[in-house]
Amino acid sequence: MESDELLDLLSSRVSVTRYSDEDLERDQIGKILEAGRWAPSAGNMQCWEFIVVEDKKIKEKLSMYSYNQSHIREAPICIVVLGDEKKAARRFEDRGKNLYMIQETAAAMQNMLLMAQSLDLGAAWVGAFKEEDVKELLEIPENLRPLSMITVGYPRERPHISEKKRIVESTFVNTYGHKLHRLMEEREWKGFKTYFGKLKEKIKGEIGND
Ligand SMILES: Cc1cc2nc3c(=O)[nH]c(=O)nc-3n(C[C@H](O)[C@H](O)[C@H](O)COP(=O)(O)O)c2cc1C
Repeated sequence: MESDELLDLLSSRVSVTRYSDEDLERDQIGKILEAGRWAPSAGNMQCWEFIVVEDKKIKEKLSMYSYNQSHIREAPICIVVLGDEKKAARRFEDRGKNLYMIQETAAAMQNMLLMAQSLDLGAAWVGAFKEEDVKELLEIPENLRPLSMITVGYPRERPHISEKKRIVESTFVNTYGHKLHRLMEEREWKGFKTYFGKLKEKIKGEIGND
């Protein structure tokens, strides 16, 4: 995949929370899970596990435990992402349990969201739910925490792409507070590409002239 295609995929992803009632193919669900398992993890510990919820009654309850978010009920599937707290703590103590487990399951989440997007499906990250209730409902063992969920389905509508901070608003050079050079400030990515492309040509030209 070209880097521009990847950027297009990343920048066209939106959280979809309205779904049609069309079911997903097994193959689509398989690809989404496959994307999740290729995420990076601390020391390759892979402390994630997934529960694919298709059952209507269970989805109803999941929705209830998620402050009545209706897309959990509406979506044909909801993937619940679990983190194995015990495994993470055994490998990396407090940092494993409090940080790595959260980070690596989040990486798996993002991989799955992107795969859903590339399959032209809609998906949304769900973080707001009552963890203990979800744990009991899904009969999750003690050592595992349900950390997040993804609803996936065919979009009934695709929301507008949300505003994102520009690079210069959130990126510094070398030390905190040292902003990117002013020259780059007004440029978006395409601008950067043109700018660097021209710069490369200029450098090549100069080297060639030596
Ligand atoms: C940690 C986290 C928790 C979130 N929880 C929810 C949620 O409970 N329900 C929901 O509809 N969206 C949830 N979202 C999705 C965000 O609302 C969404 O990503 C954000 O508004 C930006 O929109 P975009 O995904 O379309 O770019 C969550 C996202 C993250 C990263």
